Amino acid sequence: MTDTVFVLNGPNLNLLGTREPEIYGSDTLADIEAMLGGKARELGLEIDFRQTNHEGVLVDWLHEARSTGAKAVLLNAAAYTHTSVALLDAIKAIGVPVIEVHLSDPATREGFRHLSYVGMAAVDEVKGLGARGYAVALEKAAAL
Ligand code: DQA
Repeated sequence: MTDTVFVLNGPNLNLLGTREPEIYGSDTLADIEAMLGGKARELGLEIDFRQTNHEGVLVDWLHEARSTGAKAVLLNAAAYTHTSVALLDAIKAIGVPVIEVHLSDPATREGFRHLSYVGMAAVDEVKGLGARGYAVALEKAAAL
């Protein structure tokens, strides 16, 4: 196992900063990556931080976490959280612990966000803390 934690971000998270800031805050994804890089140094971890709008790419990256011996994955699968059996199956398949992350708390939002396929296989979750939630999730990953 390596000291690398994959941080995988799904659809529309590239628009953070301007995307519904009243829900997701005003930090951009680059701001979150920079903040998390500092946290990773504190914790003696490396992060591999990525974003895609494509479901299959997230599946490929989960497989890559396995093949490269990643320590853990922080996964904000965004809308695919609520729809993707493929992500659920991938998380079950890889044998790398996955921590579910959301900026908002989907449980307090529309009913269709209450179901989480990611949560069915994730070892832990951090929701509703905004950008800070990524740092909290990295601390959880460090403790695994
Ligand atoms: C989100 C919550 C999801 O319901 C939504 O589809 C997103 C972002 C969050 O970080 O709060 O795109 O994952």
